[in-house]
Amino acid sequence: MRVGVPTEIKADEYRVALTPAGARELTEAGHEIIIQSGAGEGSALSDETYVAQGAKVAPDAAAVFEQAELVLKVKEPQAGEVALLRAGQTLFTYLHLAPNPDLTRALCDSGATCIAYETVVDRAGRLPLLAPMSEIAGRIATQAGAFMLEKPLGGRGVLLGGVPGVAAANVMVIGGGVVGFNAATIAIGMAADVFVFDRSIDRLRELDVAFNGRASTVYSSTLAVEEMLPAADLVVGAVLVHGARAPHVVTREQLGLMKERAVLVDVSIDQGGCFETSRPTTHSDPTYVVDGVTHYCVTNMPGAVPITSTYALTNATLPYALALAGKGVAAAISDDPGLLAGVNVASGLVTHAAVAAGVGSEYVPAPEALGIVS
Ligand SMILES: NC(=O)c1ccc[n+]([C@@H]2O[C@H](COP(=O)([O-])OP(=O)(O)OC[C@H]3O[C@@H](n4cnc5c(N)ncnc54)[C@H](O)[C@@H]3O)[C@@H](O)[C@H]2O)c1
Repeated sequence: MRVGVPTEIKADEYRVALTPAGARELTEAGHEIIIQSGAGEGSALSDETYVAQGAKVAPDAAAVFEQAELVLKVKEPQAGEVALLRAGQTLFTYLHLAPNPDLTRALCDSGATCIAYETVVDRAGRLPLLAPMSEIAGRIATQAGAFMLEKPLGGRGVLLGGVPGVAAANVMVIGGGVVGFNAATIAIGMAADVFVFDRSIDRLRELDVAFNGRASTVYSSTLAVEEMLPAADLVVGAVLVHGARAPHVVTREQLGLMKERAVLVDVSIDQGGCFETSRPTTHSDPTYVVDGVTHYCVTNMPGAVPITSTYALTNATLPYALALAGKGVAAAISDDPGLLAGVNVASGLVTHAAVAAGVGSEYVPAPEALGIVS
């Protein structure tokens, strides 16, 4: 199969969807790799390192999309990229469609089969292609939050860990999944007082064991959230309902309970945001203030550390890329129900139930849309 890798064009995005190691594995499996010139540059990977592993270099995105049967990307396609997609082509990337009806419609119109990293599941029901980026985003969330709490950056002017004789800051993490666990781990490492909120009792049990008394776990009722907000210096929002638009866990009204110049980091912003007052921001202009509270809502947080995140992402995506290229979409998704769960759009139809609910479209199961007879 011809596998194409364009340069990412979303603002401040420096990751690339394939490393030279991946190019080597796909080439050895008999596939042709077409990478856009400069695609790896943001991750310190030159064209030559890909060519040395058997890839061909194309001058621009148009040439990559033109030749590729399978397109590997990192972030959701931007308007210029959607225009290059066509029927018969497969796109494998993060999509986050539930809060984005316009992109969903455009992908349907393209006729391409669009598989979203973030809804692929493993045998245990976990999200193997979201997890590596969630680990990174969770760690950045606390780092960025600590930074934004500094006075010259508009923060309250509080040090997360305090010092002997002065109390540490309170870090509230709402959603104790992969992002939440990692955000809390870094906050504990910075010696903050940490409180992790979740609605899954089983998850709270696991966190309680993992933290071994170094963080408090709290059942995330509305009242418990309202009781914690006045004491919080940094709130990390990290909830997820698979494939769906993020629920609002802090409303505009509840913002009034918070301290002046406390910081909210909304990691769930890629699924529409879990604070009512959140709106997407970029690394170049990451924050804004509502009612005296700093909001940090960068949609591609791992994009800031591409040398870490390109490898973490491609380690996880490569086996799926090999399966898609080797078997073709129909056989690959028939063999792996977890990969089938990743198909969000096919044959002009929305093929993921939570995405369909999010964008207000009809849901058609992927095998039906693709005409796969079982
Ligand atoms: N901004 C970025 O750059 C970036 C990067 C990676 C991941 N993310 C996003 O971060 C979010 C979290 O991802 P994850 O991998 O940690 O997901 P996850 O599934 O591992 O964890 C989500 C947790 O939220 C909990 N939850 C759901 N609804 C809740 C509610 N109402 N109140 C409290 N807890 C609730 C779940 O029980 C679960 O433990 C996702 O939206 C993901 O797309 C963003």
